[in-house]
Amino acid sequence: MEVKVTVNGQSYERDVEPRKLLIHFLRDDLDLTGSHVGCDTGNCGACSVIFDGVLLKSCMMLAVQADGSTVETVEGLAQDGELNPLQQAFSDHHALQCGYCTPGMLMSATALLRENPHPSEDEVRKGIQGNICRCTGYVNIVAAIQAAGE
Ligand code: FES
Ligand code: FES
Repeated sequence: MEVKVTVNGQSYERDVEPRKLLIHFLRDDLDLTGSHVGCDTGNCGACSVIFDGVLLKSCMMLAVQADGSTVETVEGLAQDGELNPLQQAFSDHHALQCGYCTPGMLMSATALLRENPHPSEDEVRKGIQGNICRCTGYVNIVAAIQAAGE
């Protein structure tokens, strides 16, 4: 099926298998491999993107359902080769170790900060509750998101 979608401001048109998940479409068809696959079952959040302005786990949607929509992925955060303030805060606060969860964390945090630019620690923890990190213990991730908000 033909799918037309705008990702990070760029328009793409592809012929897609109806059963293909959005995460696999992004990674395999568009070569946007920043979004990760950790579980394929909606649990880990590594595949999180912003879909028509709303945070979404892209393993929970078919690519054909994205026809006519706008998607933001981690590749769209940096501008002109410069880390954006949230990415810089993750770097400054050592908010990652293996980095596998990081793209999804960044997208969840982006969605959170758009709605609530100055979240409390509790609000940050709630905002990233759909994202699992096996490495960091979350403390530095929370600190980075709060710092980016400031
Ligand atoms: S790969 Fe989508 S939630 Fe884990
Ligand atoms: S930094 Fe390794 S899973 Fe989060």
